Amino acid sequence: MEMMPAEAHDRREGGTQSFKLRLRRYDPESGEAPYWDEHTVELEPHRSVLEAVLQARDRFDGSIGIRCSCRQAICGSCGVRVNGEPALACHTHLDAALSSSGDGVIEIEPMGNMPVLKDLIVDMDAVHWKKVQRVTPWLLAKQPVPEREYIVSKESMVDVTQTMACIQCGACVSDCLAMEVDPGFIGPAALAKAYRFVGDPRDAEQYERLNDLAQDPQGIFDCTHCFKCVEACPKDVNPMGQIMRLRRIATSDHGIVDQNNGQRHEAAFTGLIRDYGLNHEAELLPRSYGGPSWFGKFHPAAGKELLSSLPVIVKGVLRRKVSPKLAIFGHKIPAADLKAVRTIYDKVEGREQRYELNLYIAGEDEQPEPAIVAAPEGESVAESSPEGSNR
Ligand code: SF4
Ligand code: SF4
Ligand code: FES
Repeated sequence: MEMMPAEAHDRREGGTQSFKLRLRRYDPESGEAPYWDEHTVELEPHRSVLEAVLQARDRFDGSIGIRCSCRQAICGSCGVRVNGEPALACHTHLDAALSSSGDGVIEIEPMGNMPVLKDLIVDMDAVHWKKVQRVTPWLLAKQPVPEREYIVSKESMVDVTQTMACIQCGACVSDCLAMEVDPGFIGPAALAKAYRFVGDPRDAEQYERLNDLAQDPQGIFDCTHCFKCVEACPKDVNPMGQIMRLRRIATSDHGIVDQNNGQRHEAAFTGLIRDYGLNHEAELLPRSYGGPSWFGKFHPAAGKELLSSLPVIVKGVLRRKVSPKLAIFGHKIPAADLKAVRTIYDKVEGREQRYELNLYIAGEDEQPEPAIVAAPEGESVAESSPEGSNR
């Protein structure tokens, strides 16, 4: 939000305030366990958490480790956790951090899912950059290479604009729940990067890239749709949305059936929602392996998976998270609601071409211009009413 001139003046004139910081300290070379360290700094409330940490370092303890460079949310190097949430330290105001703190002390920790090098500095090379390298993060140009530049239509690039906003800060990686369980998962940042090239009409290897990411057990089907990366991203890259796009193009456009059963599992899930309006747990497993036919229930892989899942199922029943009756016989919703659900399916599936809306570029200028949305190939670009300023 843009500040009015008067407001900006008030803030400049405003005095400093005390802020108490609680910093997570750790030096692997010391052999000591991590510990909390507290310092009180004096700064104006609109100053950043990064400035507060730097003041604590300058005034009280020169050994505090934090990484930063641009100090204006561009370079992506100051990713930390503020009060348990991933954030750019330079892009988090002290007043906002104070109001989200539980006990009036701003808690700053290193990002998660990456090894700590020192204090608030994590090893981005060991995890984040390694995963980005995994997805071949450069254009594999179509041949023959034109004598001058490739000419790409404006609308065909709209779809990849969102991923191009990524500053590689690692905040999404820090909060990814799938990566917490499976550190080998390629992860949200790298997969968003993969979409950058899969969605680029100049790239020659769309199918190969998608097939590779679909067949990898730690690829696109390892994501659990938890939305954490969407919330964590300071640049609205929407990594989960990019992963879903990768899946849609892989399965719907290229018909890729992966060895991880991801495509069949998704088809089973959407089929069940169409049939019952809600998930039918007992049907999900057999349909994921054997398809929607009655014989599918006896697919050997489904039996094997059921056996290996039994301890989890029993635990769920004992903790009353699963009702055996509902799981076996399915949930029932009113007939009118089920009809409404099916109407949505009919409408979406009845379209000749999948319609992807890019909701990233939408805007409200002083003189409003229509926002551009991605349109199906072969159609002219669609326009919609503006809502916020162009980014
Ligand atoms: S939505 Fe997927 S990629 Fe994003 S944080 Fe959750 S599991 Fe990770
Ligand atoms: S997708 Fe967002 S959170 Fe993830 S690395 Fe890029 S900018 Fe950071
Ligand atoms: S210092 Fe560059 S993003 Fe924070």
